[in-house]
Amino acid sequence: MEKNMSEQKKQKVCVIGMGYVGLPLAAVCAKKGYDVTGFDTDTKKLAIIAKGKSPFKEEFLEKLLPQVKINVTANEKKLKGHDIYLICVPTPVDAKYFPILTPVIEASRTVAANMKKGALVVLESTVNPGVSAEIVKPIFEKAGFQVGKDVFIAHCPERVNPGDPKWNVGNLPRVVGSFDEKGLQMAKSFYESIVSGEVMGMDSIEEAEAVKILENAFRDVNIAFVNEAAKSFSHLNIDITNVIRGASTKPYSFMAHWPSCGVGGHCIPVDPYYMIEKAKEHNFDHKFLRTARTINNSMPEYTIDLLQHRLNQIEKSVKGAKIGIMGLSYKANVSDLRESPALKIVEKLRKMGADLIIFDPFVPQLSTVKSLDELLEKSDALLLTTNHTEFMKIPVKTFVKNNIKIIVDGKNCLDKKAIQAAGIVYAGIGR
Ligand SMILES: NC(=O)c1ccc[n+]([C@@H]2O[C@H](COP(=O)([O-])OP(=O)(O)OC[C@H]3O[C@@H](n4cnc5c(N)ncnc54)[C@H](O)[C@@H]3O)[C@@H](O)[C@H]2O)c1
Repeated sequence: MEKNMSEQKKQKVCVIGMGYVGLPLAAVCAKKGYDVTGFDTDTKKLAIIAKGKSPFKEEFLEKLLPQVKINVTANEKKLKGHDIYLICVPTPVDAKYFPILTPVIEASRTVAANMKKGALVVLESTVNPGVSAEIVKPIFEKAGFQVGKDVFIAHCPERVNPGDPKWNVGNLPRVVGSFDEKGLQMAKSFYESIVSGEVMGMDSIEEAEAVKILENAFRDVNIAFVNEAAKSFSHLNIDITNVIRGASTKPYSFMAHWPSCGVGGHCIPVDPYYMIEKAKEHNFDHKFLRTARTINNSMPEYTIDLLQHRLNQIEKSVKGAKIGIMGLSYKANVSDLRESPALKIVEKLRKMGADLIIFDPFVPQLSTVKSLDELLEKSDALLLTTNHTEFMKIPVKTFVKNNIKIIVDGKNCLDKKAIQAAGIVYAGIGR
């Protein structure tokens, strides 16, 4: 077994897409002894990686990158001669929530045009069941490769959770599916050589594709449920965060999810649409997923309504109000802005004529002030949209000192009782 592993590590791995998924994966492969090429069309990103730095904030990568060598390139020709290709390109949706598969198509064509016979190609991007068979496989067949003989295609959905101090690409369990037994075994043995978690083989490539959609739709639906409960309980003056904490004392069946001003990131608010659209081809209506998406998409607007209502209570309107927006990224302590509810909130409040003061320590380029102190000094009301550690540490006396009159806590992460006791109007999401 050890001998096979060391032989395998002499193999050349090419990662297509050096983003949140591809870059850590490439770094882990290099750390494990593979000869790694990182291909991307974004040359600015490649220049940063070439210096041993990460283009985005990620502690795991900051430690790992200086220890490994990744041959980064935007030159397709450098893709030639690899044994394993890992496709990690984006799978977004358009303005009407329709899946955009162009990056997967283009990356597959690039690999097919440059690979040698016998290579393993793994799609890591999140896709609906059917994409590997209906889109990826025909590209390789059209390029003259027989799948299961000249090329082995597998799907291994990525589960990395940027900013997670415990789980990373090196220790997360994985599932893999392929079109044939050899492809499955090749993919399994490759992933077993780079991750310490279990690698589970699925019966089909479609099952592997469905696993990831199910995982993320599960989260979206559960978050929608607590967001709906938050809206409902607010009419009864019940604090949903206490209720969820109470329900969490049940030792089985209940799993805590938390309401907030919205769901962001490249996965949860996007992936369910891939399933919704795929099901439509079979005249199946994913009512549950559609409802979850509608509820979660309504949360930025709901949060603005809360702010508007509280401002009206003190006889002010949004128009002209000095509102401090705390946070732009979609989750704590990262700079990722994709699908961030804060961006929707900012856009709408600007249209409503609010005087916005914006600060995100991880997104200085879109902040309108240089520090949290400056934001607090210039604001009358605060809207917390990201639970960055820096925001959660603000002592209540600092709000008082800065004469803050209203705080809308879009992440339910501030001390409600202490804020109210200090005479500041507080509104959380369902609390
Ligand atoms: N971000 C996450 O936390 C996460 C977690 C699990 C799964 N995923 C999935 O992984 C996939 C990648 O997500 P990401 O967050 O890494 O995206 P990303 O945008 O951070 O990175 C993708 C990279 O691919 C590059 N790219 C696009 N088209 C290309 C092409 N044709 N050839 C070469 N490079 C190309 C882009 O320039 C970019 O650098 C998506 O399907 C996503 O749903 C993401």
